[in-house]
Amino acid sequence: MRRINIGLLGCGTVGRGFVDLLARERERIRGRDGVDIAVRRILVRDAGKSRPGIDPALFSTSAIDIIDDGCDIIVELVGGIHSAGAFVRRALANGRHVVTANKALLAEAGRELFATAERNHVRIGFEASVCGGIPIIRALRHGLAGDRIESISGILNGTCNYILTRMEQDDLEFDDALRLAQERGFAEADPSLDVGGDDAAQKLRILGELAFGPQVVRMRVHGIADVTRAEVEQARARRGVVRHVATARRAAGGVEMRVERRELPEFHPLAAVRDENNAIVVRGRAVGEMMFQGKGAGSLPTAAAVLSDVIEIASEPNRTRVLT
Ligand code: NAP
Ligand code: HSE
Repeated sequence: MRRINIGLLGCGTVGRGFVDLLARERERIRGRDGVDIAVRRILVRDAGKSRPGIDPALFSTSAIDIIDDGCDIIVELVGGIHSAGAFVRRALANGRHVVTANKALLAEAGRELFATAERNHVRIGFEASVCGGIPIIRALRHGLAGDRIESISGILNGTCNYILTRMEQDDLEFDDALRLAQERGFAEADPSLDVGGDDAAQKLRILGELAFGPQVVRMRVHGIADVTRAEVEQARARRGVVRHVATARRAAGGVEMRVERRELPEFHPLAAVRDENNAIVVRGRAVGEMMFQGKGAGSLPTAAAVLSDVIEIASEPNRTRVLT
């Protein structure tokens, strides 16, 4: 039985979920995968905050102490670009594998980080960065590796979908629905990333690069920040729903991407996607159309994706290709 030590950066919605899920599944993973995964240190901003059920001795406010502590895998769940980027770069330079849920960082600096990982013979797991608990990254990297993807379209932001569902089903105003999404831990620390469309655009870039390569020829991003109850009610009167939809498709010279609010007829497959759920429709030339659906945000669903990357790296620590 190999022991795998984790340096966990962040103990918020997803970090806390990771600690809880690992506690629940640790024995099962020992039996199934032959690895014993343990959290050795946890980075937080406020070490005095009450976090019931976690040994206070694990907490530190020094990222450097944790990253340089010799852990096997650094799990980055801090969020944002600047501090998180510095932490990830240091971990990779130290020869540590990294698992992250940080789509903002990957959309901004993914190519550089993957190149650094490759140079240092370590891996970056990023399943949790797109669509929470839905294993869409693995599907595109492995399951669909034999086909040519023609288009990807779907609901990639749980907060927007939760807000639109509450406005539609409970007649809530936008601000009240956003507050609920924040209370439930779905929204980003800066929720304008969700409702402005940038979070979905970052996820679409990650999926698009896996499916089509890096060349984006056109990108249009609109959010739902100005959606009104009148708009939602008018859609309902026409037997439709408002949804925030992201689409990437091949175009001359590369890939064209759009993130926008759309009115969909109530029989459209994406119209039935509610609350914090996400859905992705992938069209492959050989396999045709497939739809992946599930929880796109939230503590345990996202933690499950993080833990799946940790298990994969822990089980094959010497496989160092980053993107395959
Ligand atoms: P969160 O609840 O705000 O938690 C962030 C954690 O990081 C907190 O424990 C915070 O410490 C710590 N932290 C933040 N900045 C720090 C710094 N500079 N130094 C030390 N510690 C710092 O965030 P989250 O919702 O878990 O999201 C984490 C990441 O997962 C983000 O990249 C997000 O985009 C991604 N993600 C989130 C979800 C979701 O449903 N929430 C789903 C998929 C992906 P304190 O606790 O002391 O404040
Ligand atoms: N804020 C993001 C969302 C978290 O609502 O989809 C999951 O990536």
